[in-house]
Amino acid sequence: MSHTQLRCIECGAPHQADVHTLFCRQCGSPLAVEYLGVNLLPRVGLGGLWGLGAPSPVHHPNSVVSLGEGATPVAPLATLGKRLGLDALFGKLEYQSPTGSFKDRGSTVLMSVLREMGVAEIAEDSSGNAGASIAAYATRAGIPAHVFAPASAPLAKLQQIHLYGAHVHLIEGPREVATQAAVDYVAQRGLVYASHNLSPYFLEGTKTFAYEVAGQCRPLPQHIVIPVGNGSLLIGVWRGFLELRAQGRIGEVPRLHAIQAEAVRPIASAYEGKAWRPQPGARTVAGGISVAQPPRLRQALHAIRETGGTSVAVPDEAIVRWQMALAREEGIYAEPTSAAAFAGVEMLVQQGVIAVDEPVLAPITGMGLKDSPPP
Ligand SMILES: Cc1ncc(COP(=O)(O)O)c(C=O)c1O
Ligand SMILES: [Zn+2]
Repeated sequence: MSHTQLRCIECGAPHQADVHTLFCRQCGSPLAVEYLGVNLLPRVGLGGLWGLGAPSPVHHPNSVVSLGEGATPVAPLATLGKRLGLDALFGKLEYQSPTGSFKDRGSTVLMSVLREMGVAEIAEDSSGNAGASIAAYATRAGIPAHVFAPASAPLAKLQQIHLYGAHVHLIEGPREVATQAAVDYVAQRGLVYASHNLSPYFLEGTKTFAYEVAGQCRPLPQHIVIPVGNGSLLIGVWRGFLELRAQGRIGEVPRLHAIQAEAVRPIASAYEGKAWRPQPGARTVAGGISVAQPPRLRQALHAIRETGGTSVAVPDEAIVRWQMALAREEGIYAEPTSAAAFAGVEMLVQQGVIAVDEPVLAPITGMGLKDSPPP
């Protein structure tokens, strides 16, 4: 008997815990993991995010597929904070994760569940980082993986996916075409679609970011500023803080701000109540957040609104400038997608949303070596 079930995030219909079910059978919306009983997974012997004591959908410690993820440092960014006029600015160095991005938080939990449920083969679609992460954890779990990626994805990410031994399917056209190709392939071959955008189990991993912040930051940051494409980190962090609040371990949840790129801004526009359509050929240097139709858009908006956050879209010029500033002034080599968060902090300070005496934290979500500008 499982200690979890899945619940529709819109109509609330319950579903049995299962890795095949990604949408509600009643209304077609995405699902969330719900805990029916205590987490049976002992903490002993498992480090990193597995040692946090966060409720987990995994039943048995032997199922855990781990590469030592989580436990990323929080570093003060004094120089950049000063430049922005902020009293306290922190970066959580997620790029120190095993495959170089925060996605490993989601992959370790998702892959552990897939292994526990005896899944034989999976497919996934990704702009690069999630694909690399899923590929690494799939190899560790002994599960063959197919990763569908846009042919325009950074070469270093594609090489990483290939080197981990996943079957790389390069798809011409925008990111959405790679998603459709993965969906079609899964249907034809009867595989499990291990979608990091849709799987509720992935969010059970990204939520551990909140548990770590609660342990590392006293007081909690008032603002957490996140680069958002599909929202797997934003929504996971929100879920984590809601759990911590329900457990009485924190008071107020930090305000969660979603940063998008000007060229691809469905969430920022929806937050402003404006219609937005993808412009043909519109591109951004922040490939990780170039998602025109995020399936969890309404849930992302919920996370933003319920925490008193905002969503803004930043220009590529600012993203590139902040990537440089992080490297030159703090010694942090972030990829452009990650630097977008800091362009967002700048905009929110200018707009007066962030007051200078309020502590701010941004994740540095991905390693710059994987997505670098030409010298
Ligand atoms: C480095 C980096 N940061 C942020 C994101 C955004 O994550 P999400 O699409 O889950 O919002 C991505 C997604 O690929 C990424 O690669
Ligand atoms: Zn539903």
